[in-house]
This record gives sequence, structure tokens and C-alpha cells, in this order.
Amino acid sequence: MNTHSYPSHVHLVEVGPRDGLQNEAQPLPAAVKIELVQRLQAAGLRHIEVTSYVSPKWVPQMADKHEVMRGIQRQPGVCYAVLTPNLKGFEAALADRPDEIVVFGSASEAFSQKNINCSVAESIERFAPVVAAARAAGIFVRGAMSCTVGCPYEGEVAAQQVGRLAALMKGIGVQHVGVADTLGVGTPLKVQRAFEAALQHYELHQVSGHFHDTYGQALANTLAALQLGVAQFDASVAGLGGCPYARGASGNVATEDLVYLLHGMGIDTGVDLEALIDAGAYISAALGRTSGSRVARALLARRAQ
Ligand code: HMG
Ligand code: MG
Repeated sequence: MNTHSYPSHVHLVEVGPRDGLQNEAQPLPAAVKIELVQRLQAAGLRHIEVTSYVSPKWVPQMADKHEVMRGIQRQPGVCYAVLTPNLKGFEAALADRPDEIVVFGSASEAFSQKNINCSVAESIERFAPVVAAARAAGIFVRGAMSCTVGCPYEGEVAAQQVGRLAALMKGIGVQHVGVADTLGVGTPLKVQRAFEAALQHYELHQVSGHFHDTYGQALANTLAALQLGVAQFDASVAGLGGCPYARGASGNVATEDLVYLLHGMGIDTGVDLEALIDAGAYISAALGRTSGSRVARALLARRAQ
């Protein structure tokens, strides 16, 4: 018997061009990134995290942010999101007219220091003027909350730390928060506890899941979040990615795998899985590797038969 009522539609945020590519050691031409974004939007994705306005010394792969943002042929109805860690990043992003900016904080102190070089409290002080400026400019503000179940430096992270960060984000006007398992160590009940902590401060439609798949738990964690009623998830085409400050963590759940799961459950995403697989094949070929998506590998093998 089905005891859960699942959402009828899930909103996907494609993070491959940003989270997926930020960790690539070899520079990838901006033209390839632009082509990837175009293919993703052609596949029906309506929300794409394109790039980051961070220091090129810290994340060299995102140094071409202006070129990428300016090179995309924008489609109406698509939300183009970018990461902005501070006012310098926000001011640089403004020229490229993002629809949404993402400030990114951490539930754990150590990851905050490694990733953005400041404490959690200091990060909120940095984000506050960014959030105010974005909202004054009519730009939606999402907050990414890293390490909500585990931290590469501190180990297990308590749900209270997630609640504390969510409250701080809410206090400065962040409109939506992503519950991120940066390391991909979470399991369903721990992930549900992290969401419950975030939901003390945000409505259900204001939270989303961001699951790296290092331990193969991302789809199970997605199902656990769906059971709470969460209806927005980040995913990365071909399972690309990782974070430079979470060594050993693999990419986000592959968008293809997530779409297959959702469509199989009768949940609409608006995404054309075959076109998405082509986008994944395109970027995998550009990187010279096989796709990290099991669904893509299975369906490509079937096509080849
Ligand atoms: P900092 O060194 O503390 O900043 O970096 P600072 O203000 O002291 O400035 C130092 C230098 O950086 C100066 O340049 C600034 O101009 C420059 P210099 O005078 O030495 O030549 N600078 C900048 N340059 C470009 N864009 C900027 C910027 N700000 C300062 N916005 C900073 C602070 C946050 C910038 C740095 O730590 C940084 O860039 N970190 C990168 C963090 C990052 O991109 N991490 C990966 C994304 S987060 C993620 O993947 C997690 C997520 O997926 C969710 C999950 O899975 O958990 C979202
Ligand atoms: Mg991430």
C-alpha cells in the first residue's frame, strides 16, 4: 500500500555547468560550457546553475564566467542562476543579468573556513548586503547549505547546526535554502532530520535537496526528501562534479538518473530524457570519459543494439 503522497511535479535545478565542471582540473573552453547549457535548456530544463563569481585563484575553472553567461542564447522561462559568495562577486554577476543568485554557507564551521575562508557568522555578515542588493534588483536569492549531514573535516553534523544556519539565512532574507549533502555520506533518515531542521524556518516549497552521490545514496535520499513533500532538487548531468574543498566527494546525483526515477514514479519534470542523455553524452565526450549516469549508460547501450 502506498502510504506517501508524492508531488505530481518536481522542479529540477541543473547544476552540471557549475557544480559539475568547477572541479575539472583541465580548463574547458567556454564554448563547450555554452553548448552544454544550450543542450540542457533544449532538453527541457528550466533552471540552470551556470557559473560562479568566485576567485579564479580558488576555482580556476569558473574564471570564464562572463564569457559563458554572455554566450548563452537565453530562452524565456528559464532561470539562469549563478553563485555569488560576496559583494565583489555579486557586482560582477550583475552585469550578466542572472535571474537568481546563490549564496553558499555551511552547517559546519570547518568547511566554511576551507570553502569560503570565513566562519559561519562571518559568512552571514558577507551575505547580508549581497541578499539585500539582489532583492532590491529583483533577483531571487537562494542559499546553499553545505555539509548538512557530514563534513569532511568535522565528521557528523547535528541537525541543530542545520537549523542554526537556516535561521541565519532566513534572518538576512534568503528566499529558499538547499539542503546539501556535500560529501554524499548521508542516508535517508539523517537527510530527513536535516530537512526537518530547515523546515523549522522555511516552507516546504522553499527548500530543495542537493545530494552528492559518493556513497551511492543520492536517489534513496531523494526519495526520503520526496516523502517529506520536497519538490525541488539539484542534479548534475552525467553525474559530473564535486567540490574542490570536499576532496573525494563525487558529483551530484546524475540528472538522467533522477529524471528516470521521477518519471518512473509518475512525477512530471518537463524534461525529455532522451535529449538529456544526448546533452550528457556531449559533455562526457568533451571531457573524454564515460557518463557517471547509470541510466544514461544503460539507455546508450540499448540505443547501440
Ligand atoms: P578571500 O580570500 O577570503 O577573499 O576569498 P578576500 O576578500 O580576502 O580577497 C582575496 C582576493 O580574492 C582578492 O584578490 C579579491 O579581489 C579576490 P587579490 O587582491 O588577492 O588579487 N576576490 C574575488 N575575486 C573574484 N570573485 C570574487 C572575489 N572575492 C574576493 N567574488 C572567496 C573569499 C569566497 C572569494 C574565496 O574563498 C573563494 O572564491 N572561494 C571559492 C569557493 C567555491 O567556489 N567553492 C565551490 C562552490 S560551493 C559548493 O560547491 C557547494 C555547493 O555545491 C553545495 C554543496 O554541495 O555543499 C553549493
Ligand atoms: Mg555541491
